[in-house]
Amino acid sequence: MPILLPETTQTSAGALTPRQIVAELDKHVVGQSAAKRAVAIALRNRMRRQKLTPELAEEIAPKNILMIGPTGVGKTEIARRLAKLAQSPFLKVEASKFTEVGYVGRDVESMIRDLAELSVDMVRAERLEDVRAKARQNAEDRLLDILLPPRPIAPDEEPAAGRDAQQQTSERFREQLRAGRLDTRTVELDVREKAFPSFEIIAGSSVEEVDINLKDMLPGLFQGKSKKRKVKVPEALEYLATEEEQKLIDMDSVARAAVDRVEQAGIIFLDEIDKIAGREGSHGPDVSREGVQRDILPIVEGTTVNTKYGMVRTDHILFIAAGAFHVSKPSDLIPELQGRFPIRVELEALGKDEFVRILTEPRNALVKQYIALMDTEGITLTFTDDAIRRIADFAQTVNEHTENIGARRLHTVLEKLLDEISFEGPDLSEKSVTIDEAYVTKMLADIVKNEDLSRYIL
Ligand SMILES: Nc1ncnc2c1ncn2[C@@H]1O[C@H](COP(=O)(O)OP(=O)(O)OP(=O)(O)O)[C@@H](O)[C@H]1O
Ligand SMILES: [Mg+2]
Repeated sequence: MPILLPETTQTSAGALTPRQIVAELDKHVVGQSAAKRAVAIALRNRMRRQKLTPELAEEIAPKNILMIGPTGVGKTEIARRLAKLAQSPFLKVEASKFTEVGYVGRDVESMIRDLAELSVDMVRAERLEDVRAKARQNAEDRLLDILLPPRPIAPDEEPAAGRDAQQQTSERFREQLRAGRLDTRTVELDVREKAFPSFEIIAGSSVEEVDINLKDMLPGLFQGKSKKRKVKVPEALEYLATEEEQKLIDMDSVARAAVDRVEQAGIIFLDEIDKIAGREGSHGPDVSREGVQRDILPIVEGTTVNTKYGMVRTDHILFIAAGAFHVSKPSDLIPELQGRFPIRVELEALGKDEFVRILTEPRNALVKQYIALMDTEGITLTFTDDAIRRIADFAQTVNEHTENIGARRLHTVLEKLLDEISFEGPDLSEKSVTIDEAYVTKMLADIVKNEDLSRYIL
């Protein structure tokens, strides 16, 4: 049976040229070629570096990227799509959610711990794939032993013959098991209960450490008690297979590989970096902003962070920071941090032409989403080209006259436009609805014209 891989993994990311990376991003994000180019080069440079001798590779630091652009123009979207492509451990965090060390909240090192966690999941999932067949086999063997306990060899029996007979019965059972003929049978299993200690939910940054220590000290408590349970054969097989998978996977080796992958290929997307810009004094009570920047600095520059899976060096992790920088400017970041993001890319504000494309071109373009949603109720929704241009036009107008929220405006405009159809949908007698320019005008013109109204509705 052919194994169908998801589209983006068909060509492994390791082989993608910058041009191909941009082409992949183009499928989802309209325009913004400078930003796409920059991330494509950065990603490719990671691959190039990995082909070098260790001595040289050690010297080559990643060129971190700062994406600057107004809200709603695709910064986060580019990062999200890059993550899917990169197949490297990838974490997106809001810089604004960190607090200075010593204050309540998340400390910046947690991003490295989270990234390590992600990487472990990734490596474990890959290893699982490798051992799945073997685990299944072992699980079957164990289940057959339960269904068919080895019978004692009779005193007058030839030992070899007895074993053969046992073997044959067991193979017959295996066939039946695979054919699903034993599915209604019940077996008794030793089941380990998962224990979720309630005090793991304490908020705060040191939870992870509390967690590690307790787990080390009280292993029995966290592993849960084992208990006999009667379960149906398919469930038993599932349970045993999972248990066998865990046995076949060497978690120490997974942890080592995962840490290595974080160090060599990890990418951290630091969103909303502008929210922590600003120096001490200039923002009154927000004195901790500069503190957060100072805390981030060593991580971006290269330090060692202690995680559950071992020490992680951050020297070669790629950082992509993004921010609208409406109020603050990149120059409001502390100078040391500015220097750590040598590549600056500006994302352009979006206009009517881009809106037309965003509405229709990307794989999961908004218009396609609405068409698919209505299709679930047997309604064929069509948009004329004129209507699309009108929608783009209205979105642009509202952005100009109220607040420019970029492509997010399309969401609000479309939602309003389709409000009636979305509500009436199931009850409509006419199952084919065409949205034309006249309909768009009818539904939206008054709201768009009235600035106060559009402030509230769109
Ligand atoms: N260039 C674009 N092409 C396609 N879709 C876009 C583009 N820009 C924005 N969008 C859409 O608009 C929405 C918001 O975009 P995104 O989250 O990338 O904004 P952002 O630039 O990160 O803004 P913010 O500064 O507010 O975080 C998303 O749903 C995204 O699909
Ligand atoms: Mg964003």
